Amino acid sequence: MRLILLGGPGAGKGTQAGFITQRYSIPQISTGDMLRAAVKAGTPLGKAAKQVMDRGDLVSDDIIIGLVKERIQAPDCANGFLFDGFPRTIPQAEAMAESGVDLDHVVELVVADSLIIDRMAGRRVHVASGRTYHITNNPPKVAGKDDATGEELVQRVDDQEETVKNRLAVYHKQTEPLVSYYSEWASSGDAHAPTVHRVNGLGTVEEVRDRIFTALG
Ligand code: AP5
Ligand code: ZN
Repeated sequence: MRLILLGGPGAGKGTQAGFITQRYSIPQISTGDMLRAAVKAGTPLGKAAKQVMDRGDLVSDDIIIGLVKERIQAPDCANGFLFDGFPRTIPQAEAMAESGVDLDHVVELVVADSLIIDRMAGRRVHVASGRTYHITNNPPKVAGKDDATGEELVQRVDDQEETVKNRLAVYHKQTEPLVSYYSEWASSGDAHAPTVHRVNGLGTVEEVRDRIFTALG
């Protein structure tokens, strides 16, 4: 099973990714998590990406495409994978299509921009695993600590209101066109095209999870 989880900043991709990867026993490939790990480790990639990410802009297609192509060669991707936050531009989607990797499903999580600022302000993350919480909507068992490891939770640098606004603008301009790209491909009748599902991202985490599972069948 190969899936793309598409949606704006704070739509709940990371949160829902956990349920989907568990159900299908596939790894989550979050380009955001990969970049944050590189920033934390201080690698050349991390140094190049940090400023761009802190502004809420997109890292260059070449870097991202190279990163993902290498990642999907790993043995744990043999049964498929879930892309979280990739592809994010038409060139990234085209690179995947051209590499001959057929995708089964695209799930678009839809949440109005007006709700995103609150979700981001309350988000706390466990950097090492990418596990995500919200101080009121999805709190950890112990405040400020990751459920599995007990380690410290932090706020993301790019979750400040002004940066979130830029990320939303970048999403609408550069990533949202992917919805039409995949829908048009699907309606062309090409057997290689993935099925596109539009899922309402409002409601509790469990309600959204159930909608995704219903859509996937
Ligand atoms: P990335 O990490 O991918 O960020 P994003 O797409 O902006 O998405 P987020 O991680 O902010 O949100 P999410 O949808 O995962 O929501 P979450 O589940 O955490 O990318 C970061 C940066 O890296 C980019 O800006 C870019 O610079 C770079 N980058 C990454 N990939 C790239 C690519 N392919 N190309 C170029 N550059 C790239 O939920 C958010 C909050 O809401 C949490 O607190 C959560 O607990 C809460 N929540 C979740 N569900 C619900 C619910 N149903 N009700 C209430 N609250 C909820
Ligand atoms: Zn995320």
